[in-house]
Amino acid sequence: MQKIFITRKLPDEIVDPLKEKFDVKMWHSEEIPMSYEELKTEAKDAHALWTMLSDKVDRELIDSLPNLKVISNLAVGYNNIDVEAAKERGIVVTNTPGVLTETTADLTFALLLATARRVTEAESDLRSGKWKSWTPMGLTGMDVFGATLGIIGMGRIGEAVARRAKGFDMKVLYHNRTRKIEAEEEFGFSYVELDTLLKESDFVVLLTPLTAETKGLIGKRELGLMKETAAIINVARGGIIDEQALYEALTKNKIWAAGLDVFEVEPVPMDHPLLTLPNVTVLPHIGSASIHTRMAMMQMNAEAIEAVLEEKEPNNRVV
Ligand code: DGY
Repeated sequence: MQKIFITRKLPDEIVDPLKEKFDVKMWHSEEIPMSYEELKTEAKDAHALWTMLSDKVDRELIDSLPNLKVISNLAVGYNNIDVEAAKERGIVVTNTPGVLTETTADLTFALLLATARRVTEAESDLRSGKWKSWTPMGLTGMDVFGATLGIIGMGRIGEAVARRAKGFDMKVLYHNRTRKIEAEEEFGFSYVELDTLLKESDFVVLLTPLTAETKGLIGKRELGLMKETAAIINVARGGIIDEQALYEALTKNKIWAAGLDVFEVEPVPMDHPLLTLPNVTVLPHIGSASIHTRMAMMQMNAEAIEAVLEEKEPNNRVV
């Protein structure tokens, strides 16, 4: 029987059907991740590896798994996997695009609104007894309605965010490797160069994948181009913003606020300087975290693994 190894505890209703055809082994915990060494040992006979975005699947790990045929990642992003190393060995890599688009766009908008209107700061003030009276200028934020939104990375999620922005009467600018002429015409987005987007936007939203080209895309120079009243929202991957440069831009009032669902190191260390700033709204990487969407993502992974192990073409193949 071919072996599947799953790096985190997943719901029985998703995993049980696979047990009828394959030998399935699963890590015991949903919350505590496996270490790299544990993964190497536990998965050593696996024909299929079902990974989380927090698992580092590098060349060394791939080369240590002689039977491996497929790696299926529970995320649309796959920067945690050395796809070149997989490709060289003829190992299929799959991800979960499409099903998480609207859910991630919802969260992007929630974080944008929360950052603009200081929602988490306001809640924490109330809970800690700081609400003494209604104040004329207390906890005042920025308007979202009618503002200019700049989206960096206009893929499926970018388009879904832009559609939501129309309901807030926002002007939508975008920057992407390729122009989206049809969407521009249909929804009225405007393509601009990166620097123009940074200079003109009230809210800059990052939605690019993390690649060699986008690593550190937003650094000191780019943050310096933004309006002092603007906020940056990152729901993509931590490495796209230089966190030290972001901290400096926020403390020197070069920009007004940041909303972060992702960090360079996750979980973000509790002594991270960004966590000391009240104008930073933070979330623990929950972009796709709705019950329906996570179940759909898992189902997609299960189907892809089954397809590869049965020598069929899987959906959502990355390589
Ligand atoms: C993804 O799928 O890449 C998201 O970051 C998960 O929330």
